[in-house]
Amino acid sequence: MKALDSLTAGGTALERPLDIIVRASTEDDVPAMLAIYAHHIQRGLGEMDVEPLNGEDIKRRRKNMLKHRLPHLVAEYLGAVIGYAYAVPFRKRPAYRYTVKHSIYVHPDHLNAGVGRRLLPVLIDACSAAGCRQMIAYIDTANVPSQRLHQTFGFEHAGLLKAVGFKYGRWTDSMLMQRALGPGAASPPDDDNGTLKLKIDRKHR
Ligand SMILES: CC(C)(COP(=O)(O)OP(=O)(O)OC[C@H]1O[C@@H](n2cnc3c(N)ncnc32)[C@H](O)[C@@H]1OP(=O)(O)O)[C@@H](O)C(=O)NCCC(=O)NCCS
Repeated sequence: MKALDSLTAGGTALERPLDIIVRASTEDDVPAMLAIYAHHIQRGLGEMDVEPLNGEDIKRRRKNMLKHRLPHLVAEYLGAVIGYAYAVPFRKRPAYRYTVKHSIYVHPDHLNAGVGRRLLPVLIDACSAAGCRQMIAYIDTANVPSQRLHQTFGFEHAGLLKAVGFKYGRWTDSMLMQRALGPGAASPPDDDNGTLKLKIDRKHR
């Protein structure tokens, strides 16, 4: 099936996987992120925008995340951006301020080469450091690589949304996968670490 192209295609194994660097994105990374995203929305099972994204959209999203003190990361290999990942507030209402959802995309030439496994734990740690307590992924039920990646890093199945998407001529189901960050629900939020809380609260007052 066409929509599965980017998930089943073999990527190029990275000769020096230890040379992958995960770092905060910069505006200079936007064209590379856009190219990765454009590939996946045309052929993959990740999220899908109504209109194709342009560089300004990614710049705006990036700035918005940084404003919320949330991570926006890239994986770089020998000077090239080969993947990116970021977290956004789960919902805008203040009650949900300690929960994030996230996206992760790997360059089509480097799928199944361990890039996601490098990016996701850094994203998890950064969200945890920002004071978040829960992290949620919406994953197309046909997207086995993403499910496996998330399982590897402690995400558990938390629900199924049936026929919520329509892509490539078919209805698609989304599964929710979730993991706790830091103490999770074992203690109240630590307001001393609450830059995220303050930013979101102010915006919605
Ligand atoms: C999902 C995605 C980020 C995974 O990143 P990746 O770098 O290709 O994955 P990795 O090489 O780090 O492998 C992660 C796990 O997925 C498995 N995997 C990767 N590609 C696979 C494939 N084609 N089929 C089956 N399993 C696969 C790996 O075996 C590994 O499993 P393990 O942790 O149990 O060993 C990547 O496939 C991608 O960018 N997909 C398109 C965009 C997308 O769907 N994003 C997620 C939206 S929720």
